[in-house]
Amino acid sequence: MNFVSNSWTFQSRSEEATARLGVALASVLERGTVVALIGHLGAGKTRLVQAVATAAGVDRREVSSPTFVLVQEYEGRWPIYHFDVYRLGGDDEFLDLGAEEYLNGDGICFIEWADRLEGSLRPDLRITIGATGEFEREFRFETMSPGGMALLDRLKASIGPPESA
Ligand SMILES: Nc1ncnc2c1ncn2[C@@H]1O[C@H](COP(=O)(O)OP(=O)(O)OP(=O)(O)O)[C@@H](O)[C@H]1O
Ligand SMILES: [Mg+2]
Repeated sequence: MNFVSNSWTFQSRSEEATARLGVALASVLERGTVVALIGHLGAGKTRLVQAVATAAGVDRREVSSPTFVLVQEYEGRWPIYHFDVYRLGGDDEFLDLGAEEYLNGDGICFIEWADRLEGSLRPDLRITIGATGEFEREFRFETMSPGGMALLDRLKASIGPPESA
């Protein structure tokens, strides 16, 4: 395939800034997009999904880490499939969940702890979140497909220059 990898970093100085990132992300996501979320406990993976889901019309209280149920579905402007693979043994267990159907479905997939899967995931976008302070978070976006690149371009345009973040 003829595409180059592309990346971009968003510095969030508060939970509100992360919420704005989620709103911007919701405005550019398309059905079928698969987003891998990577970051330590408490990094902000769920907080970002909450922000996207709320912007898509889901009640924020519905959104929590699906650590024990492994996948949660929310009905917003589009369906959101929210995975947490922290407790999974690996790719085989992920596929046994029926993951393919979600990944090829018409919703948006978010997978927390996607780095625990080795080969079964082909995300469009990878977001690596690092805590850089009590309320500061760094969101590093990497595109993994042509669709992901186009999405990231729209996201950057939607957010504008860093001063407004
Ligand atoms: N700028 C910020 N952006 C996002 N979350 C923030 C920010 N500042 C502080 N926080 C706090 O960080 C925590 C993020 O928790 P969250 O549940 O999203 O983490 P997680 O990455 O999903 O962890 P886990 O792997 O345990 O599911 C929340 O308590 C949130 O209030
Ligand atoms: Mg979480």
